[in-house]
Amino acid sequence: MHPALVILLSVLLVQSITLLGKSRLQDILWFLYTSVFHRSTLSSQRSLRRDILSTKRELAATSSQDQFAKWAKLRRKVDKSLADLERTNASLSTARSTFNMLFKGVMTLIAVVGAVGNLWPGKSEEEVLSKAKVEKVEQELEEKKAAAAAQAGSRTAEAGQARRRTNAAAAEKQDL
Ligand SMILES: *[C@@H]1O[C@H](CO)[C@@H](O)[C@H](O)[C@H]1NC(C)=O
Repeated sequence: MHPALVILLSVLLVQSITLLGKSRLQDILWFLYTSVFHRSTLSSQRSLRRDILSTKRELAATSSQDQFAKWAKLRRKVDKSLADLERTNASLSTARSTFNMLFKGVMTLIAVVGAVGNLWPGKSEEEVLSKAKVEKVEQELEEKKAAAAAQAGSRTAEAGQARRRTNAAAAEKQDL
């Protein structure tokens, strides 16, 4: 790969990590990875799940005494689809471990490249800026939460007053 491309990719990745967080990024990349490399496994998993659901529904509507042959056939179909589903699940989970290893490897590689090229976050002005931004957004969120809590509190107090008023009215009525 051309060094400029490596640097560009590293910067992109570092920026996405800053924006999304590592695990979100990993999930998004996993989604892309499976939709490219495991498209058929994913679609067969989906169709198997649909099959199992509909066959199970049919099975529930079939009497094992009156329609035994049909019932047994449906039962076998469910068992077979479940076994197939387990297989697709297993192959996807193997793929996930491979992907996690790849991701880790790429992250390590980028950390090394970044360290060598002095690109790793904590150095650039942009990074400091975006950190300040994140802190500001967090602070705003906190303030919003506090405001919402205060409002909820005053609502509860109002409700309490209203309840007391109704109780007083009821008591008056009883007195009459
Ligand atoms: C397969 O995985 C799906 C979720 O991805 C889950 O809902 C299902 O129960 C799993 N089935 C088996 C047989 O492991």
